[in-house]
Amino acid sequence: MLKPENEDGAASLVDPQFRHDVLTGLALRPRAIPARWFYDRRGSELFEAITDLPEYYPTRTEIGILDACCADLAARVPAGAAVVEFGSGSSAKTPRLLDCVKPAAYVPIDISGDFLRESAGALAQAHPGIDVVPLEGDFTRPLALPPAIGAMPKLGFFPGSTIGNMLAAGAVDLLRSMRASLGEGALLLIGIDRIKGEDVLVPAYDDAAGVTAAFNLNLLHRINRELAGTIPVDDFRHRAIWNDSRARIEMHLEAMRDTAFTVDGRAFTIPAGETIHTENSHKYGPRDARLLLRGGGWTPLAEWTDPADRFALILAEAQPERFAP
Ligand code: TRP
Repeated sequence: MLKPENEDGAASLVDPQFRHDVLTGLALRPRAIPARWFYDRRGSELFEAITDLPEYYPTRTEIGILDACCADLAARVPAGAAVVEFGSGSSAKTPRLLDCVKPAAYVPIDISGDFLRESAGALAQAHPGIDVVPLEGDFTRPLALPPAIGAMPKLGFFPGSTIGNMLAAGAVDLLRSMRASLGEGALLLIGIDRIKGEDVLVPAYDDAAGVTAAFNLNLLHRINRELAGTIPVDDFRHRAIWNDSRARIEMHLEAMRDTAFTVDGRAFTIPAGETIHTENSHKYGPRDARLLLRGGGWTPLAEWTDPADRFALILAEAQPERFAP
């Protein structure tokens, strides 16, 4: 099926997985659509803008920790290591880590080949001494690393508290996949956001300028654009809710009045006050984070936080597994 998709009127195929996830998710109770569909071009731009918001503390806090812990971290990473980043790399964090650790190679892994090659090219230019080897693939499953880094010590890098966007079971599975990909003896540097007061958490996901609201609502625009939807986007509002028992911020799109619409010809109704659940951001206390890592096969070795203890960078090692005390 062909549909016009972008501004220049180019037609493109409907992504059957997107269609399936939206139609299934709107029929679920509670309604829920997987967060991966946020990130079309507009969504990715809005997310970049979120990381600059005054209320969104995680990005700048993690960068501050990375700068402050550099000497300590560099002393714990063997010389001639390969840094393997799960995700394409952020313009602010990756160069800092590379400058700090001075690895022999850098392997960014991402499912989107175009974005991957773009950012890898820029990094290679800025770090002529580092062999940059992008790897296109799904890092939620064990992957074969490039033979060129086979003999090097490995340091996995997974910043941004992205692990917090998974449910506990999925987070453990992902940590186990990373362990399988990197191998026993590897190190992992992971960013994990801390539990803190709602006065700080809720504004980080519901900012005064409305950028996070626009990011969440963009999903509805994308459905209308790519799946021939008739969703009245103005009838929905962004909600960020702290779920204390599950220690997570939940993102929802709430219908402000009874709504009826179609997506790809299928009819849906959402009564006023009901929501579509679009994302979770789990937060971890210090012991919670270490337990999560151990559950995923990683032994915490060191951790660094900011002075307000808002965010943690944890270094862990894939030690041989022990099943007895
Ligand atoms: N990993 C980020 C986080 O949980 C992702 C994120 C930030 C996000 N703001 C968002 C996801 C708003 C959805 C909506 O902090």
